[in-house]
Amino acid sequence: MTAARPILLFDSGVGGLSVLQAVRVRLPRAPIVYAADRAGFPYGTKTAAEIEARVPALLGRLAERYDPRLIVIACNTASTIALDAVRAALDLPIVGTVPAIKPAAAVSKSRAVGVLGTPGTVIQPYVDRLASDFASDCLVIRHGSPELVELAEARLRGEPTAPDAYRRILDGLLSQPGGERIDTIVLACTHFPLVQAELEAAAPRPLTFVDGNAGIARRTAWLLRQEVWPDMPGEGVAVLIGPGAESEEFRRGLASFGLTRIERL
Ligand code: DGL
Repeated sequence: MTAARPILLFDSGVGGLSVLQAVRVRLPRAPIVYAADRAGFPYGTKTAAEIEARVPALLGRLAERYDPRLIVIACNTASTIALDAVRAALDLPIVGTVPAIKPAAAVSKSRAVGVLGTPGTVIQPYVDRLASDFASDCLVIRHGSPELVELAEARLRGEPTAPDAYRRILDGLLSQPGGERIDTIVLACTHFPLVQAELEAAAPRPLTFVDGNAGIARRTAWLLRQEVWPDMPGEGVAVLIGPGAESEEFRRGLASFGLTRIERL
């Protein structure tokens, strides 16, 4: 009974799959429910008030239905805005995903770090605090790209995406004052590791890309270190919030992350 309780991962779309991948490495037998708020997608262009009104309520409904042992908010936008509100509303461990500015500052040699996130994330006071707490001796340059979120969604559906678009998006960081010094870029949206290879290929010079996924998985495994897991990994469940049929390509994309059952909320 207890062994069947899942870990619930939550994002607006497919971005949290990059977090799921890291969690699976640490906890290969953990039952997984992955919820995508397609009705609310995209989060990155919504106001903080909209996210704050939506996410805790939705996670409450998901927690009621799936009785998870822990929730990972696998979304930087939702975490930087609504983490405290979710923790206040739910009585179970909540792991958030926030921009990996600390590890990026630890590896940057030029002391100039780019933060590539959604427009909603890069303006958050949470990001100001991360920058002043962990990168006070670095130039921290931010760029919000809703387009890169769409490219990652398209990539999961197996659609081709144009190298030019990635170049343009990187230019949004690198062409800002001081941008020529950037040697490290934080992928501050969980969608972006899904297109890291494309970003690397489009980069005009060698750049180090950093995300927080391994750290989130480590934290999740530590919080659940005393839990009992099933002997065999079960079927992963994708919960799609909102209407709309799934294309065969989309189903295949989910299945490539072990999510072979689709349910709706
Ligand atoms: N994947 C989400 C993040 O980490 C947001 C994408 C979106 O819905 O705009 O910020």
